[in-house]
Amino acid sequence: MNLGIDLGTSRIVICDPSRGVVLDEPSVVAVSQKDGHMIAFGREAEEMLGRNPDTIRVVRPVQNGVIAEYELTEQLLRRCLAKVCSARIIKPCVAVSVAEKVTEVERRSFIEAVISAGARRVTLVPEAVAAAIGAGMDVSRPLGQMVLNAGGGTVDVSVLSLKGEAVSASIRVAGQAMDEAIVRYVRAQYGLIISEQTAERLKIDIGCALPIDPVLTVEAKGRDSISGLPRGVVVSSDEICEAIREPLQELLELIQQVLEVTPPELAADIITEGIWLTGGLAELRQLPLLIEHATGIACHVAQKAHQCVAIGAGKALKYASSFSAVYDLGSFSYRLSDNVTN
Ligand SMILES: Nc1ncnc2c1ncn2[C@@H]1O[C@H](COP(=O)(O)OP(=O)(O)OP(=O)(O)O)[C@@H](O)[C@H]1O
Ligand SMILES: [Mg+2]
Repeated sequence: MNLGIDLGTSRIVICDPSRGVVLDEPSVVAVSQKDGHMIAFGREAEEMLGRNPDTIRVVRPVQNGVIAEYELTEQLLRRCLAKVCSARIIKPCVAVSVAEKVTEVERRSFIEAVISAGARRVTLVPEAVAAAIGAGMDVSRPLGQMVLNAGGGTVDVSVLSLKGEAVSASIRVAGQAMDEAIVRYVRAQYGLIISEQTAERLKIDIGCALPIDPVLTVEAKGRDSISGLPRGVVVSSDEICEAIREPLQELLELIQQVLEVTPPELAADIITEGIWLTGGLAELRQLPLLIEHATGIACHVAQKAHQCVAIGAGKALKYASSFSAVYDLGSFSYRLSDNVTN
């Protein structure tokens, strides 16, 4: 059994190339403070965020594309693999996407976590390559193609051609930073303290990168910063647009930076091919239009944007041997030594 895994700051997505996406859950775990055992993971644990008593810790074990809490990441992976593999006896071969810029130590920690969670073999696939393959792009062509993968913790912009990434850069300002910006905005405007989960809901339900017509509104509930009493306010899409302006500006600057150092021949290709958007944040209303206005280059949002990386990782694994030559995946590929397999 082959599986592609995207273990992100916000979500863990697992794709079986023969069956499609088989797991898509928030990458959140709830553990007992007393003995550290896992109480819940995924959606169930996410519902506990902000509602947990002192005896339960609710954590996102992956932060900004790297493992922040090793033990919890391993437990989360173990549960997810068990759910996906259920009655199978043979352990799966897994392709995990990792950001290009992670250190060797961080790379190894991904491999070890996946192995001890129950995989037979692990191949690390560069995240941008996985995103592009998942978006349906043919990355083996001698053609410059720009992929913007925007998630919860990181935004990565890469120009791919033939052998992988020609130019790339990333920032740790993404979906979560927008949620935090919305929390600050609502507090400053209305004296209302809302949770990051409420802020994320506002971003998904009415958020936009440019004002939309008709304007959308929704009620946000929280606690009054002065009286301490619970209350609600009606917030509009224009206000959310204003609240997330700074993180959006950083995203535009990142694209600009990458374009500035892209060799002219590849830049010419990007003008024809456009920019491909992947990751959950790619689904923010008007984001393609904002980028088009800022760069003059057409933007396309990939289908199933937030699952692209896992889908692409799964496909990359199927062709791993041919990829090692084309994408230098060989250098990312770690085969288990016999003693670890047993
Ligand atoms: N429709 C939507 N509109 C706006 N934002 C959205 C939408 N759907 C999801 N998001 C945001 O996308 C982010 C999650 O994206 P994704 O699942 O790609 O992240 P991730 O891969 O877990 O994180 P990372 O790659 O940064 O480690 C969250 O911040 C979420 O709020
Ligand atoms: Mg991601």
